[in-house]
Amino acid sequence: MPAADRDVWDPDRYARFADERRAPFLDLLALVEPRAGMRVVDLGCGTGELTRLAHERLGARETVGVDASAAMLERAAASAGGGVAFRQGDLAEVDGGPYDLVLSNAALHWVPDHEALLARLASLLAPGGQLAIQIPANEEHPSHAIARAVARAVAREPDLAALLGGFVRESPVLAPEAYARLLWSLGLPSRRVRVEIYGHALPEPGAVVEWVRGTLLTDYERRLSPEAYARFLERYRARLLATLPDERPFLYTYRRIFLWARRSAAP
Ligand SMILES: C[S@@+](CC[C@H](N)C(=O)[O-])C[C@H]1O[C@@H](n2cnc3c(N)ncnc32)[C@H](O)[C@@H]1O
Repeated sequence: MPAADRDVWDPDRYARFADERRAPFLDLLALVEPRAGMRVVDLGCGTGELTRLAHERLGARETVGVDASAAMLERAAASAGGGVAFRQGDLAEVDGGPYDLVLSNAALHWVPDHEALLARLASLLAPGGQLAIQIPANEEHPSHAIARAVARAVAREPDLAALLGGFVRESPVLAPEAYARLLWSLGLPSRRVRVEIYGHALPEPGAVVEWVRGTLLTDYERRLSPEAYARFLERYRARLLATLPDERPFLYTYRRIFLWARRSAAP
């Protein structure tokens, strides 16, 4: 298996900030107009608790969660049953429509080419079907900018550079305005695009490192040996903590883009 394909998602690490991660999910769900007997797909469903929560709150008939990570899906198994199922797969290749709701919380930023992706997702909608997507867009925060800076710096060190192969994670996330245009160009008659800045109160600045270890930094972890990743992480931690104010509690600001659209009810 190529190093970049290693499954480095860790359900326990991800769950450490479960309350903070649930808040935008609930805001996303609030955008959905429930209909009787919906068929729902949750893309990048992770550990599945939120998939189940969506299924129950919407009174859905059938909900399938799709995720690429075997480790996350293993945890999701506990949320299966009663109309909820999970399967492993690449969300960019999702099929099995038509769906009354294509839902995705904090996952599309892992997939390139959002023009093609959203066209595919829109094509899976039943008449009157809805898209509801939340995309993290925090690239300008030091938590993300410093990861890119460290990746560029280690590219000059032969051993780390050999493993990273010049890789620097660049986000595929578009500007909110571009999503507005995209949803329009897909012929979706009802559309909303919203940006929200969340303020996650963490105990201290070092908790930001733990937060991004569970998400952003997995893209570096999967490419590096454990020893090389430990060095990468140490460098990242030192630079980040030298930049962030030493406040306790620490307010971790997090920018997120919400997309909602509905297909015309006429077939
Ligand atoms: C930040 S977690 C979000 C999980 C869940 N939606 C939530 O809100 O808690 C991102 C999830 O996307 C999954 N993921 C990343 N790239 C993917 C892809 N190409 N196809 C399917 N799942 C993917 C990861 O395995 C991970 O479980």
